[in-house]
Amino acid sequence: MHTKWEPQSWKSKKARHIPIYKDQEKLDNILKKIEKFPPLVFAGEARMLQNKLADVVDGKAFLLQGGDCAESFSDFHPDNIRDTFKVILQMAVVLTFGATCPIVKVGRIAGQFAKPRSQNTEIVKDVELESYKGDIINGIEFNKISREPDPDRLVQAYNQSASTLNLLRAFSQGGFANLHKIHQWNLSFVQGENAAKFKEISDRIDECLAFMSACGINDKNVRQLYETDFFTSHEALLLPYEEALTRIDSTNGKWYAVSAHMLWVGDRTRQTDGAHIEFVKGIGNPIGIKVGPTSSAEELLKIIDIINPENIAGRVTLICRMGADKILQKLPEIIKKINNEGKKIVWTCDPMHGNTIKANSGYKTRPLNNIISEIQNFFNIHRSIGTYPGGVHLEMTGQDVTECMGGLQKITDEDLKNRYHTYCDPRLNASQSLELAFLLAEFLKDDKFGSKISSNL
Ligand code: PEP
Ligand code: CO
Repeated sequence: MHTKWEPQSWKSKKARHIPIYKDQEKLDNILKKIEKFPPLVFAGEARMLQNKLADVVDGKAFLLQGGDCAESFSDFHPDNIRDTFKVILQMAVVLTFGATCPIVKVGRIAGQFAKPRSQNTEIVKDVELESYKGDIINGIEFNKISREPDPDRLVQAYNQSASTLNLLRAFSQGGFANLHKIHQWNLSFVQGENAAKFKEISDRIDECLAFMSACGINDKNVRQLYETDFFTSHEALLLPYEEALTRIDSTNGKWYAVSAHMLWVGDRTRQTDGAHIEFVKGIGNPIGIKVGPTSSAEELLKIIDIINPENIAGRVTLICRMGADKILQKLPEIIKKINNEGKKIVWTCDPMHGNTIKANSGYKTRPLNNIISEIQNFFNIHRSIGTYPGGVHLEMTGQDVTECMGGLQKITDEDLKNRYHTYCDPRLNASQSLELAFLLAEFLKDDKFGSKISSNL
């Protein structure tokens, strides 16, 4: 029987990766409190993002989505927010300038706290405790109290998201993103070839701005020169929290998640009959679905029909995360079958989650070469089918961490221990992110102006 969708409809389905709270009454009271908290984003902003994503579907823009694997309470600092924002701005400028293509900027930020884990528990020296599931759920310290899911953490996550978003809004609209400030965006530890290349682009942009100003176009009269649009996103994993932040938009009477502009469903929770798909089907925000190597085109078509029955462009982003080794076998058939059904899709590549390995030192890492190889294959596959490679989805930070191997800084297995700070998966540092942006600009330029990428399909 067809029943009306409500924010709590997900409760009638199987919900994976949601913790069990010992004190259910405390959780309920906190959720009631959160239901009255102000929205973090507005429905109109989510619609604006969806319209921009519709341009990506048409091949007229490119999606750059990136940020922490997991935000944490202890790393909450204005400098960290600023530095992540700076790198995303730098990457966007490199891509816009290099490929003459508008960039849709979406952060994994201001709410990216909940993590699905492959094991529900972790054993250290014969002690078994619940795995760390993100700061919105429990603490990373390995002791019984810290690993117990605590409802108070929901309020702290909301508060941190609100002030992070507040600062991001100030950065994007308060003058920091003014193109005339481009030289100030480079981070001091980004040096050598990356810094030199960025300086070259900045100098050329300065020249363009001076020319435009002489023609009467300047940052006093053109909004795009003095501010930018920046959107937020996170995995819609912790459904009780998302439900409490789902509201009706008074302008069109539809439900929207107000915890972020865009939400995605992870590779572990995308079951067609599961709670997470049930939840996102009823909200008006643009939705991402992670597509791992076990996905099938048939299953994805079902999901697409559930969440986007009217085939609205920009509503569905398929975030493909196969791994450099599997993408060539798995992805072409998926794209072909979904494309043959005429589905309007933003196709984006997450080259991080399929390329995680354990280094000899014991650290989880991702070799930059494999990340690049997956992106290159992603572009090649789209080129051979005639579809558009619409974006990338990266785990990255503005900090000088040593978590992913390789790049111009030549980070080796021995270097990983130096600054390995992530709470979950290894992230690209600012230098590696920028390096990737230069490469992506080349791929995109080739896509627009003729092929240089070798076709090995
Ligand atoms: C993530 O994006 O951090 C994540 C857990 O990804 P996936 O669902 O693709 O494994
Ligand atoms: Co991750």
